[in-house]
Amino acid sequence: MADTLTVIDNRTGQQYELPIKDGTIRAMDLRQIRTDAGDFGLMSYDPAFLNTASCRSRITYIDGDKGILQYRGYPIEQLAEHSTYLETAYLLVFGELPTAAQYAEWERTINAHTIPHENIKRFLDGFQHDAHPMGILLATMGAFSTYYPDAKQIFDQASRRLQTIRLIAKAPSVAAYAYRHAAGRPYIYPDASLGFTGNFLRMLFMGTEATYRPDPVLERALDVLFILHADHEQNCSTAAMRAIGSSQSDPFSAFAGAAAALSGPLHGGANEAVLRMLQEIGTVDRIPAFIEQVKGGADRLMGFGHRVYKSYDPRAKIIKKTAYEVFEVTGRNPLLDVALELERIALEDDYFVSRRLYPNVDFYSGLIYQAMGFPVDMFPVLFAIPRTAGWIAQWEEMLLDPEQKIARPRQVYAGAAPRDFVPRERRG
Ligand code: SDX
Repeated sequence: MADTLTVIDNRTGQQYELPIKDGTIRAMDLRQIRTDAGDFGLMSYDPAFLNTASCRSRITYIDGDKGILQYRGYPIEQLAEHSTYLETAYLLVFGELPTAAQYAEWERTINAHTIPHENIKRFLDGFQHDAHPMGILLATMGAFSTYYPDAKQIFDQASRRLQTIRLIAKAPSVAAYAYRHAAGRPYIYPDASLGFTGNFLRMLFMGTEATYRPDPVLERALDVLFILHADHEQNCSTAAMRAIGSSQSDPFSAFAGAAAALSGPLHGGANEAVLRMLQEIGTVDRIPAFIEQVKGGADRLMGFGHRVYKSYDPRAKIIKKTAYEVFEVTGRNPLLDVALELERIALEDDYFVSRRLYPNVDFYSGLIYQAMGFPVDMFPVLFAIPRTAGWIAQWEEMLLDPEQKIARPRQVYAGAAPRDFVPRERRG
């Protein structure tokens, strides 16, 4: 049997053979299907890209039915168990796990770029004390495009490497500055002796102690969470990063757009929405009423459901296990009981089972962040920090893909028929 699709256009009786490759047909192969020479030809219509592959990628593989997630072929469970976020970021960007020498150079270079320009402090002073930190992050990272005009040299590999380092290194520092700005506390400069995640915790939580050392269990837990959030193939924010980058804008500007996409409650803002939902439910006895509201369409069970995973999100399994390790140190988050009972009920209820709605990466992560002392509005920022590695890896892959060009979807026009302008005095 040939790898082709035979299509008969019943409007003309014409038959067409469309090649099938990697389980897809090329949308452009539909354009030959016309009713006459003046016909534009067929397009595919796919609002929200439910069934459209936008690219070929070698970075992340997901099997939504089997609950499989792999970065560059490595199962997420093994990376969470044995790797670090910084090593995983190297893997996503370069395609291979680093040797000891490569890792040492990578860590040294990242550490050399963690300090933001001093002017950023004045930039941050322009934000209200209660400004959402996600707004501060995307605005500040976007503003870096004005500090580093060399970032526009996107076809120069050395420049791309430098911007990759700057983005990965500065995202946590800006996030920590945003947190300290809201708290009215002095900014803490990076300390390279602590490693990527330990340094981040110090920049956030250092008080008046002469030496701050993060709890090793909490540091490892956050590093695992960073690994789990580092990439996820063509999600909404990565699609935004690719689309913005396809016009050949610089990667800092593309980051701002990707972070804006991530901040939505249906995407990376879901971890914040989950915590607010759990707080609103409050106690286990109020869960049945909430579930009825969800089934009636009046509410959403935030942290549940996924466009790709129609089974348990493998990241949620790891996060749930990590939560117990964190609570050993911080004390059990009382909202965990609400979350566990919510999951138990939902996984037995036909409304959720029939729609294949399972916990996703955001369902349990917020419980950990809250237990670690993060305010709820920092949760999406904690998602954006590690996703920086995925965004920049996907951005570069798009830029170097010979099949890619500026992203410009078509449309089906459903508006008014042609009509003549009517002067204002004669409008009804
Ligand atoms: C992330 O894409 C990625 O990879 C994202 C991400 C990543 O790492 O980048 O994995 C991170 O964004 C995880 C998702 C976080 N968002 C949430 O937890 C918000 C709650 N979830 C949903 O809003 C929803 O499930 C989405 C947005 C995640 C997916 O939406 P889809 O694929 O467009 O599905 P849909 O909205 O069309 O829902 C299908 C049906 C609908 O019911 P019917 O119209 O068929 O009756 O399922 C229902 C929906 O109403 N449904 C839910 C639900 N999610 C879907 N009903 C109640 N609660 C929910 N959470």
